[in-house]
Amino acid sequence: MKLISKPSQGLHGEIKIPGDKSISHRALICASISEGTSKISNLQESEDVINTLNSLKQLGINISKENGFYFVEGKGFKGLKKSEHQLFFGNSGTGIRLMSGVLVMQNFSSSLIGDESLSNRPMKRIIEPLVKMGANISGSKEETLPLHISPAKKIDGITYEMPVASAQVKSAILFASLGAQGETKIIEKSISRDHTERMFEYFGANIIYSETETILEDTEKFTSQDIEIPGDFSSSAFFIVAALISKNSDITLREVGMNPSRIALLNKLIEMGGNIQVSNHSVFGKEPIADINVKSSLLNACEVTSDDVPNLIDELPILFIACTFAEGNSVFNDIGELRHKESDRLKAMQEGLNKMKIKNSVDDNVFYIEGNGKNYKLPSFLAKTYYDHRIAMSYAIAGLNSSSFIEITSPESINTSFPEFIDLGKKLGCNFEIS
Ligand code: S3P
Repeated sequence: MKLISKPSQGLHGEIKIPGDKSISHRALICASISEGTSKISNLQESEDVINTLNSLKQLGINISKENGFYFVEGKGFKGLKKSEHQLFFGNSGTGIRLMSGVLVMQNFSSSLIGDESLSNRPMKRIIEPLVKMGANISGSKEETLPLHISPAKKIDGITYEMPVASAQVKSAILFASLGAQGETKIIEKSISRDHTERMFEYFGANIIYSETETILEDTEKFTSQDIEIPGDFSSSAFFIVAALISKNSDITLREVGMNPSRIALLNKLIEMGGNIQVSNHSVFGKEPIADINVKSSLLNACEVTSDDVPNLIDELPILFIACTFAEGNSVFNDIGELRHKESDRLKAMQEGLNKMKIKNSVDDNVFYIEGNGKNYKLPSFLAKTYYDHRIAMSYAIAGLNSSSFIEITSPESINTSFPEFIDLGKKLGCNFEIS
């Protein structure tokens, strides 16, 4: 299967963006370990989230769907049941890393696996702190999947200085700490997304957090809640850039998550000259939301600093596309983590940028792109996506400014995070076809 993306006449209209992936995982997990039944609306129905949902069902949690709402019958922190089979997390680093934190405090063994991409991603980053807390968790010789977890004698709280900025690692530690004796304190040099902290607070945890420090004190239980999931900012990012780089565009995205630890891309695009208006500010639970209006714009190059990176890590591929159509040279500092995502995203994007005849280079984790300006039309080419959803969607948006078309491999990968992407894109005026 291939996705063909052709020039568009401009994007128009209003859409509601489906639920946030990070928050959907956390909502399902927190609801499962709370006491009582939680109701979740606007859950992201992507493959990643459904794999977490199915794993929780395999672990004895009743989850049902009625009239578009999900109902999760929580069993308490240590109330999960042993699964007869291995737990499969597909492509999802978030699913497997967060659930590892939950599973180390249970009184049964578990085995956790994933697809080819997830099987090669680093797990040492969670194994190390969890073992320090007393957990029995191990991976392969290379500290990759499968992960094996067996019951721990005792889990202790930990004071942990994070070696890499990672919300997944921070969250694995926080989930494990719910079953621990003593306080946990996590110190971060760079700020990573704080959805777990906000969701823990919402479910009644004794948690105090700032941008660089999180303290979780003894928490007896979580109480079930109704949760409304904000639209996914990372999904919105593709259409935000699409409208900016396509002539005659004016779109509005409704009820998008505006968590400050997630929206560096928006601020960067505004700095670059993007005509973006944010309105109708509100909150869903502990998460801010708003509507975002975007119009075609002339963009200038940008500089991404080391501190920006964790906040826009998932948006870097689509920001590279925005920079392709900007005036001037863009610089991205300290982007080594991009190599450890669902694919080596730096390699996957460099390959496409070269085919687009966009000058780019990497020097010691600093990446440079020479923009060709607003009127540049990309040559036709075959974009290889390495089965990575965000690479596929980035090239799909680039194709809107091609001279003829861009052909994109394995568009099925898009179902990992945004199954509605092609239909919503077409509704806005993207010229997409599946062949
Ligand atoms: C996520 C954290 C980030 C991000 C991923 C989702 C999360 O990963 O890239 O898509 O939900 O916690 P890291 O924690 O590895 O940076």
